[in-house]
Amino acid sequence: MQKILIEGGHPLNGKIRVSGAKNSAVALLPASILADSEVTIEGLPNISDVHTLSDLLEEIGGTTSRNGNDITINPENMVAMPLPNGKVKKLRASYYFMGAMLGKFKKAVIGLPGGCYLGPRPIDQHIKGFEALGATVTNEQGAIYLRAEELRGARIYLDVVSVGATINIMLAAVRAKGKTVIENAAKEPEIIDVATLLSNMGAKIKGVGTDVIRIEGVPSLKGCTHTIIPDRIEAGTYVIAAAAQGEEVVIDNVIPQHIESLIAKLREMGVTIEESDEQLLIKPGKKLHSVDIKTLVYPGFPTDLQQPFTSLLTKAKDTGVITDTIYSARLKHIDELRRMNAEIKVEGGSVIVSGPVKLEGAKVKASDLRAGASLIVAGLMANGITEITGIDHIDRGYEQITEKLSALGASIWREEMTEEEIIQLQNS
Ligand code: EPU
Repeated sequence: MQKILIEGGHPLNGKIRVSGAKNSAVALLPASILADSEVTIEGLPNISDVHTLSDLLEEIGGTTSRNGNDITINPENMVAMPLPNGKVKKLRASYYFMGAMLGKFKKAVIGLPGGCYLGPRPIDQHIKGFEALGATVTNEQGAIYLRAEELRGARIYLDVVSVGATINIMLAAVRAKGKTVIENAAKEPEIIDVATLLSNMGAKIKGVGTDVIRIEGVPSLKGCTHTIIPDRIEAGTYVIAAAAQGEEVVIDNVIPQHIESLIAKLREMGVTIEESDEQLLIKPGKKLHSVDIKTLVYPGFPTDLQQPFTSLLTKAKDTGVITDTIYSARLKHIDELRRMNAEIKVEGGSVIVSGPVKLEGAKVKASDLRAGASLIVAGLMANGITEITGIDHIDRGYEQITEKLSALGASIWREEMTEEEIIQLQNS
């Protein structure tokens, strides 16, 4: 087990390249189950969530072959193998095996998904969608059992705008009989990416990127090659790091439109950002002013960036208020930032950050993926050494984060943890 160490205060300069989108990758891999021949996905991020899902595809009889960041999946020998335990518990996105296996085999048994603890994360809207398509869904001892004689298109109104439910219902519906309409659908770029793969496989989908998605079911889908979109949350994390500690940083392989809400907020703070087709140039001003943010569904400010953004606000003048309307309990980074001298209060569901404060290096723990990213941003700015444990969370979602930041001039490295440190971490 390793930890990440950062000696703060080194300026960041140069170019950093963003990897393929984690939250697309984790849906594209299960989507390959629906094809009847080989699917190649190009530009996958090399992160542990992708490895876990590739292993799960093999557990159900698929073969996968990797070539750098590309993967080819042969689904021909896949079967509806129950996956009640084991690797499915490691991540949230294993729930996409429900929609994909139901769509292909009309049955599936999948353990309840794991993933970051961000407060309650129900999947009632996914189940509502599967049931509307004709499936019987039961929860037996922590595993979801899905079965259908036949899937038939339906009109499904989502009571909550949900990325996962929108994608999962698309997966189940593309091979169903007849027309499915998903109303109040989510509009995140990852949903468009998954729909693009499915369309290349032969699915008939209209309206992705709006809140009404229309699907005309087809009896079978074929293999294809698909290139994944860049990771807007990884890009946003590096934009925030550049605003916090950069001089001149170029973020490469980014679709600026995907992080417009972040760019707008940083400009309000006094950061200069120049946009071109696939790059952003970040030049932070001498002084940053605080802003308030409220996380919303896309294209609003993403919940996945509120934790790294909190770290940046410690450097800004005056008080900034952060309200996460998607996951109000996504607050595990706060106590750790306080250990580093941050002045943060939590009041009535909002996080109030006072600044500017000089952060001090400390021993801190990442308890979820984006909390880890926020501690890295904080460590880059802090006086002295910051030591971050719990980095398996970070490695679930960020490809080569220490290497990428080192190349910008950060002093950041990994060390093996001692046995005593591992025991301490496990007991904390
Ligand atoms: N919700 C329900 N019922 C449902 C589904 C969702 O009440 O059936 C609620 C959730 O509790 C939440 C809101 O709806 O309050 C939105 O949840 P959503 O379903 O959109 O989240 P998700 O699909 O489980 C994905 C990302 C998350 C990201 C959220 C919101 C993946 C694998 N995960 O989760 O990413 O925070 O959308 O944008 O795509 C991350 O990358 O760090 C991460 C947690």
